[in-house]
Amino acid sequence: MRQVLLAVAFAVVSSPACAASVDAGRYQSVLGDCEGCHGKNLAGGVELMTPFGKLVAPNITSDKQTGIGNYTAENFRRAMKDGVGPGGKRLYPAMPYPAYAKMSDADIADLWAYFKTVKPVRHAVDVNQLRFPFNLRFMMRGWNMLFFRPALYAADKAKSAAWNRGAYIATGPAHCGTCHTPKGFFGADKGLALSGASLQGWFAPDLTGDPTTGLGGWSAAEVAEYLKTGRNAHSIASGPMGEVIEHSTSRMNGADLRSLAVYLKDLPASPGNGGGASGVEAQMKSGAGIYRMNCAACHSLDGRGDNILFPPLAGNALVRQTSAETLARVVLAGSKAVATRETPTGPGMPSFAWKLNDAQVANLLTYIRNHWGNRAPAVSADAVKKIRTSLRSASH
Ligand code: HEC
Ligand code: HEC
Ligand code: HEC
Repeated sequence: MRQVLLAVAFAVVSSPACAASVDAGRYQSVLGDCEGCHGKNLAGGVELMTPFGKLVAPNITSDKQTGIGNYTAENFRRAMKDGVGPGGKRLYPAMPYPAYAKMSDADIADLWAYFKTVKPVRHAVDVNQLRFPFNLRFMMRGWNMLFFRPALYAADKAKSAAWNRGAYIATGPAHCGTCHTPKGFFGADKGLALSGASLQGWFAPDLTGDPTTGLGGWSAAEVAEYLKTGRNAHSIASGPMGEVIEHSTSRMNGADLRSLAVYLKDLPASPGNGGGASGVEAQMKSGAGIYRMNCAACHSLDGRGDNILFPPLAGNALVRQTSAETLARVVLAGSKAVATRETPTGPGMPSFAWKLNDAQVANLLTYIRNHWGNRAPAVSADAVKKIRTSLRSASH
């Protein structure tokens, strides 16, 4: 009798708890942006360009042949937190386990409860397309020994609960530093956290409090608005950040977005961009003419843009980053703003690669980086040429 009663009690308690865990796990997958790399149905196939060649994110549906259907809970925990797959397979840190290692075991357990319910999709993926010798998995053992220091998130008691929640999300599941923290030659973090870093042809800007390159001029509400909708009065997101917003931050709840903003707004300022250009009057004069002819129609002569459609270039942190990589890329290749639930069709920025040569783009960028109160280093024709060449090879 007693056993039966216990079993009934267990069933009553456990089934809603399980459903809650699956929902909580689905939300963890939003925080961790699993779809951003593993694809909308999680069956893999998204290509990740790394400085060492190409990796393709694998199938992580519950399919037994081509996915992770044979995983145990412990296999999953170790892949997420130690970067080790079943049988001791060393995962490449393109899978952001160095950040996921900060996640609590309870969050990982919820995530696993959700992954067990993900519909199996049969889809074989050729993951490792790295160049020799980086394609040798055992090399990762050395990388992990040198650079990987797994540690749970440690709360900072001196800070508020919101700050700690924001720090947990940013450094753990949402792995913001994977793109925004400068990297050394071997791809490990180096330098001030979240102070800006080059990606493949993009620059993930400084998120610290520096007023020239960072978020010093943004209010916490504006940070949250950008992460929710992909735009605010200062900037419009595109490229890799557009994808992060689409799959991850736009689907985070309001409290978590506010916590992220509280944390980001409290980051100590980076040293900034080293000041403005000097002795470049000729570049500035040429750039002003090019701007008037090609850009002012949308971004307006005073650089203020139009709040809803065209981002301002005056006071725009992207324009003032130390590296002009993203800037040159946007002008050469154009870009399409991210579409989110709030703003379903994003406006487009046309490409100018066909119209402006390297010197003209360099003059134009030097001008917009040093006009309307902006201050940032000059841009050379050589730097533009490099980006034009990398764009050309990426499209082949
Ligand atoms: C930035 C891209 C990226 C994100 C985001 C990402 N992954 Fe991955 N993941 C990868 C890549 C690339 C691999 C393959 C690594 C390898 O084989 O060395 C991988 C491998 C894995 C594996 C191991 C599969 C196997 O081969 O056994 C699991 C499990 C996994 N990811 C789960 C997740 C989960 C869950 C999330 C979300 C919380 C996630 N990943 C988010 C890129 C990503
Ligand atoms: C896959 C790489 C990647 C990840 C991960 C990523 N970002 Fe970004 N982020 C970028 C790039 C690239 C830009 C520049 C976007 C542009 O030019 O439109 C950017 C831009 C931004 C901006 C606008 C800065 C400005 O001055 O205009 C903010 C704010 C931001 N990211 C916050 C975050 C936060 C918070 C996270 C973690 C939740 C995050 N990012 C994760 C690549 C990334
Ligand atoms: C037809 C209108 C149009 C013209 C002309 C135009 N732009 Fe844009 N521009 C846009 C739109 C729309 C966006 C936002 C789309 C996005 O971020 O993906 C944008 C984005 C940008 C951004 C990125 C801002 C940010 O915060 O992400 C820069 C920089 C930029 N434009 C510079 C220029 C320059 C320099 C020129 C002249 C060579 C120019 N634009 C011409 C419409 C235009």
